[in-house]
Amino acid sequence: MVTLPHCAYFEAGRCRSCVLIETPCPTQLSDKERRCRELLPQVPESLWLPSVQGGTADFRNKAKLVVGGRAGAVTLGILGRDGAGIDLRDCLIQEPAIRHAIPHLAAFIEATGLEPYDVPRRRGELKFVHVTLAPSGDLMLRFVTRTEQALHVLRKALPRLLERVPSAVVVSVNLLPEHKAVLEGEREELLLGSSLEMGLGDVSLHLRPQSFFQTNTAVARALYAQAAAWVAAERPDTIWDLYCGVGGFALHCAAAVHGAPRVLGVEISASAVESARRSATEAGIAAEFIAADATAFALGSPAAETPHTVIVNPPRRGIGAELSAWLERAPAQRIIYSSCNPESLAADLAAMPSWGVRGARVFDMFPHTRHLEVMVLLERTV
Ligand SMILES: C[S@@+](CC[C@H](N)C(=O)[O-])C[C@H]1O[C@@H](n2cnc3c(N)ncnc32)[C@H](O)[C@@H]1O
Repeated sequence: MVTLPHCAYFEAGRCRSCVLIETPCPTQLSDKERRCRELLPQVPESLWLPSVQGGTADFRNKAKLVVGGRAGAVTLGILGRDGAGIDLRDCLIQEPAIRHAIPHLAAFIEATGLEPYDVPRRRGELKFVHVTLAPSGDLMLRFVTRTEQALHVLRKALPRLLERVPSAVVVSVNLLPEHKAVLEGEREELLLGSSLEMGLGDVSLHLRPQSFFQTNTAVARALYAQAAAWVAAERPDTIWDLYCGVGGFALHCAAAVHGAPRVLGVEISASAVESARRSATEAGIAAEFIAADATAFALGSPAAETPHTVIVNPPRRGIGAELSAWLERAPAQRIIYSSCNPESLAADLAAMPSWGVRGARVFDMFPHTRHLEVMVLLERTV
């Protein structure tokens, strides 16, 4: 019998984020597999590898908590339709160490006297707390605030925060003065440490406050391992990792190929690139990383420099028409395309008819939601 996680928040109608939580996980996954097969009919059934499961509970390494309520009754969770805070501190999809830290964070916020930001009235200070957990148990805590004044209060209160949450190794304040429906602003002030070390086995990835990281650590490991296995089977001399973030694909693939391929990661965020460089140095991997727009970089590179293998892992919008058109005519031999949006993946692949799918796999990165990660291995056929 399949046991479903029991979520009191969902049942009470307080949070509906996990829209599929009442659907058994095997059914969730088979529905996602069916959707991918329908969107990618060119992939023969025999090429789909067994899907990677994401877990039923305790799988999210990151919580983006809205600070709500009022001083004396702070909530950490989401906002209701009326703009009032809903506390979700026992949310079961978060890793247990995150759940454990939340009451201490709430008590700390109470002790600072900082007012939660009141969205309907546009008043108050603290907007969000972002919590990220490394496999080691270390935490990165980011407080998103409205004013400089809150930054000063939090800076002064840092010793008290560390008494309550001693596993915090990176603490920062992000300033978001505008009343905007976004999760963070541009300016980040570090109060403690600089990067969280996400140890994934063969490679450790440094993660700074504003960089992207896959939200399910176990599934991220499987994703990088699959890409590394496909790359190792080909032993390419050169690899590009476009949209490389903090270098997960680049570094795992470089580590998997004997004979040191030339590996280059391209990423728009300069701070993610710095992290990737640091991780490469610490792992003794001679990969290079540059901060650039992936499409502009590819289109601006001489044809002779096109690598054997191109890895792409774009945001939800996909790689788009220009980069698809460039890949369609590029003299590369393999592409690994990892996507969190099978619709944009299908549209991009339709623009690359010279490439055939040689392997495909679904990764259930986001259980209880309709979101998924799907990765395909492409080979030039024309
Ligand atoms: C889905 S994440 C993948 C990150 C990385 N591959 C990983 O496994 O963690 C997409 C990444 O693309 C980056 N990005 C967004 N737009 C970009 C662009 N135009 N050019 C290069 N990178 C971009 C984002 O900053 C983010 O790090």
